[in-house]
Amino acid sequence: MTTLSLTLRRPDDWHVHLRDQQMLAAVLPHTARQFGRAIVMPNLKPPVTTTAQAAAYRQRILDALPAGLDFMPLMACYLTETIDPDDLAQGHAAGILTAAKLYPAGATTNSDAGVRDLVRIYPVLERMQKIGMPLLIHGEVVDAEIDVFDREAVFIEQHLIPLRAAFPALKIVFEHITTREGVQYVETAEGPTAATITPHHLMINRNAMFERGIRPHMYCLPVAKREVHRLALRAAATSGNARFFLGTDSAPHLRHLKEHDCGCAGVFNAPDALACYAQVFDEEQRLDRLEGFASLFGPAFYGLPVNDDKITLLKNALESAENWPTPDGPVRCFEPPGGLHWQVVRDYV
Ligand code: DOR
Ligand code: ZN
Repeated sequence: MTTLSLTLRRPDDWHVHLRDQQMLAAVLPHTARQFGRAIVMPNLKPPVTTTAQAAAYRQRILDALPAGLDFMPLMACYLTETIDPDDLAQGHAAGILTAAKLYPAGATTNSDAGVRDLVRIYPVLERMQKIGMPLLIHGEVVDAEIDVFDREAVFIEQHLIPLRAAFPALKIVFEHITTREGVQYVETAEGPTAATITPHHLMINRNAMFERGIRPHMYCLPVAKREVHRLALRAAATSGNARFFLGTDSAPHLRHLKEHDCGCAGVFNAPDALACYAQVFDEEQRLDRLEGFASLFGPAFYGLPVNDDKITLLKNALESAENWPTPDGPVRCFEPPGGLHWQVVRDYV
């Protein structure tokens, strides 16, 4: 294999779960080694629903950061039906809250405190629209009668289209899209609309969950879909369309809680996230577009400057780690089915 080196402006991760306490300390170095900033998901127990909680969580992240790593956590507030719009606006004005996250109640891990009836948060969305604060959406319906593989597409029709129409100037990020319908929606939606795409949804389809047995480490929400959807995501990510940008949705769970009779949803991809994206763009012969997706389009959407520093990747054969230790037990790392041929060789300079 030819050795190829690629130097990029340092990227950001626009969607990550860093957790708290021992897990935070164990997983944070992976994200901070590659990414200059990350939007940190607020679905802790209890969730991060106030500016004060977000400020305290941000401090815990900064305290857990190993010396020498330059990394800025960007905080997202968890929207509930009783959220205080004044606190949200003040947190945004003070630079503590970058965005707010909408979890439909019951859609995923620690989403029980989320929103049951969107109309109830319309006053909050009105305020966010006015102050230019982005709304990040977990876009799946929770209706048990809707097939789990259809929940994203149904969410677009039932909730996203009406929401977009009600708040035409609201910045909306449709998080971790997994379907052709999601891609088409984001390509054509009016107003400031974008989407994040994970490395795993670019690399696996739903068969990976059933490869010679049940594969809990390939299970996340939204769940991976058919191959046609993966191909649509790959086309979108590598298209150069600035509405699509990087968000790993790295979501660590202890290995024994995934290998369980009710296994947790989430793929822990942080160790090799950027290498996975590079591999996808390489396979699509679009390495020239990786920097836009990883390092430029996200800041442009959020209205933030791009990072000044650079990061270098190398293409070669390599063994990636299977497990990552934490004091409470190992977390299984995402392993792309065909192996991984890229690695970050030089951290940011
Ligand atoms: O797979 C997922 N894991 N999807 C989510 O939306 C949440 C995440 C988590 O927090 O574990
Ligand atoms: Zn997530």
